Amino acid sequence: MKQGDTEKIPSDRSVTPASERIRPMKKIRNSSLHSEKIQQMINQYLKDTQQVEQLTDAAAPYYQIEPDLYVKHEVKRGLRDIDGKGVRAGLTTISKVTATQHVDGKDVPAPGQLFYRGISIEQLVQGFIDQDRFGFEEIIYLLLMGRLPNPAEMEEFHQLLAHYQLLPNRFNSGVIMKMPSDNIMNTMAKCTLALHAYDPKPDDTSLSNVMRQCIQLIAQFPSIAVFGYQASMYFRNDKSMFIQKPDPKLSIAENILYMMRPDGKYTRLEAKLLDLCLVLHAEHGGGNNSAFTVHVVSSSGTDTYSTMAAALGSLKGPKHGGANIKVMEMFADLKRHCPDWKDEDALREYLVGLLQGENFDHAGLIYGMGHAIYSVSDPRAVILKRFVEQLSTEKDCHEEYELYATVERLAGEVIKKNRKIYKGVCANVDFYSGFVYRMLGLPTELFTPMFAIARIAGWSAHRLEELINCRKIIRPAYLSVAKEQDYVPMKDRR
Ligand SMILES: CC(C)(COP(=O)(O)OP(=O)(O)OC[C@H]1O[C@@H](n2cnc3c(N)ncnc32)[C@H](O)[C@@H]1OP(=O)(O)O)[C@@H](O)C(=O)NCCC(=O)NCCS
Repeated sequence: MKQGDTEKIPSDRSVTPASERIRPMKKIRNSSLHSEKIQQMINQYLKDTQQVEQLTDAAAPYYQIEPDLYVKHEVKRGLRDIDGKGVRAGLTTISKVTATQHVDGKDVPAPGQLFYRGISIEQLVQGFIDQDRFGFEEIIYLLLMGRLPNPAEMEEFHQLLAHYQLLPNRFNSGVIMKMPSDNIMNTMAKCTLALHAYDPKPDDTSLSNVMRQCIQLIAQFPSIAVFGYQASMYFRNDKSMFIQKPDPKLSIAENILYMMRPDGKYTRLEAKLLDLCLVLHAEHGGGNNSAFTVHVVSSSGTDTYSTMAAALGSLKGPKHGGANIKVMEMFADLKRHCPDWKDEDALREYLVGLLQGENFDHAGLIYGMGHAIYSVSDPRAVILKRFVEQLSTEKDCHEEYELYATVERLAGEVIKKNRKIYKGVCANVDFYSGFVYRMLGLPTELFTPMFAIARIAGWSAHRLEELINCRKIIRPAYLSVAKEQDYVPMKDRR
């Protein structure tokens, strides 16, 4: 496959001085994004709100279902029981998430554990950290292939990823730059769907074809996210844009920093921490919202691009991958309310205000806290926290790290006090990931896309697992609790 639009800008750092990497393009005004007709349409949408609000208010009661009916019919909301335990919906060998241990015949809360293909995440991380190398590519191989690669297999897989990371000819100008969204997750979904048109066998669901499509998407997601961000900055935010194609010699984490930074430079610690974030976000069982989406959508027999676009939509949600953006916004709000980061009474009061829906986005949530499975600890957050402290010292952000650690402790206390928590509550991986991304200079808009760049590895394995084992469309039952009624002819309605 040939690189299209990005070829004009050379990428080889050995021949391109940093000063020549950036060729800012002429700025254009926001309004020129929309033709006059589109602008008129948008203005009309804005005018329609009152009528639509009335329609919504009138319709709302017809949607309401008595909470008691869920209990009566034993319907588990969120497919989880009263203790928060998920209803068993499938079997998987890809990963395992545990948060309890068996003591005296009972399951009791325990520190969380995560295994990729049976190997604990702690051991996997220790493995590549001890050898001072990047780990994400090895984890992709492990998740997709079911076992760790030997050195020759790893080298070959690196080359395959490098080969696939190039976007199709003119994809940048023809798709990414056309009507870019402010939300890069939506841009990624758009681009993922559009890649269907560039694939010689887009709807072929044979395993080798799906494997090829998955590896291709894993390799292309970093460029799609970074270029999508650049397009949004240029077309919607009146900023300069530069497009730097990835360097095949670099790891995925290095390439993200290389493509994002005008001078293309980064420290080893920065790249390793981003690599660690990718590893920790790569997979989390079949029941997490986006992986389950992959199972549901794959089971209908649809194509890989449609499946991954659906998974992106799921991950974007603030209760799932979108939480890392919410954590950053929440901390910005907290800092405005609590200028003294050591004043624990003020911090506690702010957190209680969050739970009471008075502060920040009024959702009643403390973002970055809580998890559907973990109770005592999220192993990903525990691992990340150790390295975050190191980076915060390098970046002169140690005071802020201490603020995060204090809020983590206080938030656990106030949630336990103010909510019915059956299983306990702890910081989840996204409590610290946004802070890492910010220290790395990544813009907030790219926080959830970083999660997607990592998690597509797990999604790919789940798609293959569904196609190989299930062969039956996922179709749970919904009990209708609607009252039957007779049709009333139009002329008789009041
Ligand atoms: C992840 C999350 C959706 C799990 O929710 P859950 O499965 O209902 O978790 P639990 O069963 O432990 O929750 C028990 C109660 O505590 C509440 N709770 C849990 N975490 C909370 C939080 N961070 N802030 C406020 N309330 C919380 C739940 O809403 C629930 O209350 P309810 O019964 O009145 O609905 C939830 O913890 C959350 O919204 N966290 C914030 C968003 C976030 O960080 N998401 C990233 C997850 S990796």
